[in-house]
Amino acid sequence: MLRFVTAGSVDDGKSTLIGRLLHDKELIPTDHLKNLEDLSYLTDGLRDEREQKITIDVAYRYFEIGERKFILADTPGHEQYTRNMLTGASTADLAVLLVDARKGVTTQTRRHTLLCSLLGVPQIVLAVNKMDAVDFQQSVFQLIERQFFAYADRLKIPSIVSIPVSALQGDNVVHKSAQMAWYEGPTLLHHLQHVHLGALANPVDFRLAVQCVVRPHQDFRGLAGRVLSGRVRVGDAVTLLPSGATSQVQALHGPDGPQQQAGPGESVILRLQDEREAGRGTMVVRTANQPERATRLDVNLCWTDARPLQQNVPYWLLHTSRKIRCQVEHVHYQLDVDTLHRQPAETLELNQIGRVRLLCSEAVFFDPYDRNRETGSLALVDPNSNQTVAAGMIRGAAPDPANDPRVYPYQAAISRVDREMRQGHAACVLWFTGLSGSGKSTLAQELEKLLFLQNCRTFSLDGDNLRHGLNSDLPFSAAARKENVRRAAELARLAFEHGNIVLASFISPFAEDRELARQKIEPGRFLEIFVDTPLEVCQARDVKGLYARALRGEIAEFTGISSPYERPLQPELHLPNQPLVRSLQQLLDLLKERQILPPSNAG
Ligand code: ADX
Repeated sequence: MLRFVTAGSVDDGKSTLIGRLLHDKELIPTDHLKNLEDLSYLTDGLRDEREQKITIDVAYRYFEIGERKFILADTPGHEQYTRNMLTGASTADLAVLLVDARKGVTTQTRRHTLLCSLLGVPQIVLAVNKMDAVDFQQSVFQLIERQFFAYADRLKIPSIVSIPVSALQGDNVVHKSAQMAWYEGPTLLHHLQHVHLGALANPVDFRLAVQCVVRPHQDFRGLAGRVLSGRVRVGDAVTLLPSGATSQVQALHGPDGPQQQAGPGESVILRLQDEREAGRGTMVVRTANQPERATRLDVNLCWTDARPLQQNVPYWLLHTSRKIRCQVEHVHYQLDVDTLHRQPAETLELNQIGRVRLLCSEAVFFDPYDRNRETGSLALVDPNSNQTVAAGMIRGAAPDPANDPRVYPYQAAISRVDREMRQGHAACVLWFTGLSGSGKSTLAQELEKLLFLQNCRTFSLDGDNLRHGLNSDLPFSAAARKENVRRAAELARLAFEHGNIVLASFISPFAEDRELARQKIEPGRFLEIFVDTPLEVCQARDVKGLYARALRGEIAEFTGISSPYERPLQPELHLPNQPLVRSLQQLLDLLKERQILPPSNAG
């Protein structure tokens, strides 16, 4: 089976070419055709290209010629629709790039070639179309070939074949051209039918992305998902990510019942020896072969949205079956598509390609794109518009920019794990966020007393204590609050690494700042506690009399009055306005559930 894409500019005659391919092999009833120009209508099943004169979506077509089956992702040529080209090309074995013989290689051709290279499409066919319009001259074809290779030679594309064609008249599409005796290579169809296909899917590294947990009846629980790469067999020792829980594959069920093994692309239900926590987004891997993990990623990004990339604002990151929060922390450079020069940039605009560093809210389990197209690719989604705004290819883990290379990394004499083993409970950061007067500090203090009684190591950080000392230089502007939270988070990290259950109570009104705090702590150990006491209640309590003063205008930028509070979207615990003991119980349950406290201690 050959998966291929076609790409070219709107007028390059792409649809005509595909129509010609199908028509000359008589794969469609000919009475659907009125004249040759109608050939383009054949390929636009899903679309309204005739009215718009541009192709606006990916149309997948399936056909079979001789021994070979074909899946064609017909991708659009209009500049705005690079997104669809990305969709089609990310799984393709081959790309047919169309060039108009009268125009030669254009920026659009270069962009598509560059994308094919970044996406790891192993084969390119350069189809120089409309040869009839240049009197089938060999010199024109050769010039375009030279033009193309001058560019493509600088990229990583294993195989390129160029073919002069006329889709309109049928030359070298299915039948050999009588007009171009000088051309000795294969026709397009012949090439597509006979080109050697290497295995695209990574056969080595077993990765399964869980879509859901199925439990049709009491005695059956299975993880339904797709094998992204590699093979899995009954009896394999596997690890579930991100939890790290291990088990063994007890059984595999496919569409036709139980099976002994499963390979790339197969959807299966996997049963484990032991009941393990899992859900959509869990990745199952072989224990002896695990992917890389990182919260910072170096990524080649192609921006596909009309609104340019913004640094340090939240995006959704879609990776395998997971959806997590991330932000673009840095744009390393933007690529000039024509020259391939790296240009310094702050953003990427529609269709631009560049290298960025992503900061993710949780560790991402990945393989570099070069090694695994499935676990190495990602998409960014704008949380406001819900639009896909970029496609990315992961190059690898990125270093933490805070690590100044001139400063030697600090190695603790006693590790956190050693401390945790000694003391019998794990370390974590409980980050209480909420309005002034919501009860953050009260809750944290009551909880700390309970933990103290259970011989836990604790460490308290509070807006009101820090702002008298370490942070006494900071006012309440957005920038100052950011710095306030940054310092607090750094302290929390130190205390955490020393084995403490850290109780940090800060209004921390901005989601981005809380996110940065989360980044500093090992995934799974930062527990955001949203103390969601309504503004009216806080105002009515007004323990410190600050709301009254803020309303009188005596205190500027007061949270909830004259400065915003961004509610956490996915806190680990959401505490409504309820009796204190109930909140305390929920906090203890959370610590037990997250295995911070041993089960006996938490009771
Ligand atoms: S944060 O927004 O930077 O996280 P933090 O939690 O450290 O704030 O400090 C909040 C405390 O400072 C409040 O509980 C209140 O007592 C006091 N405060 C003084 N001015 C303000 C203000 N403009 N907005 C909010 N809190 C204020």
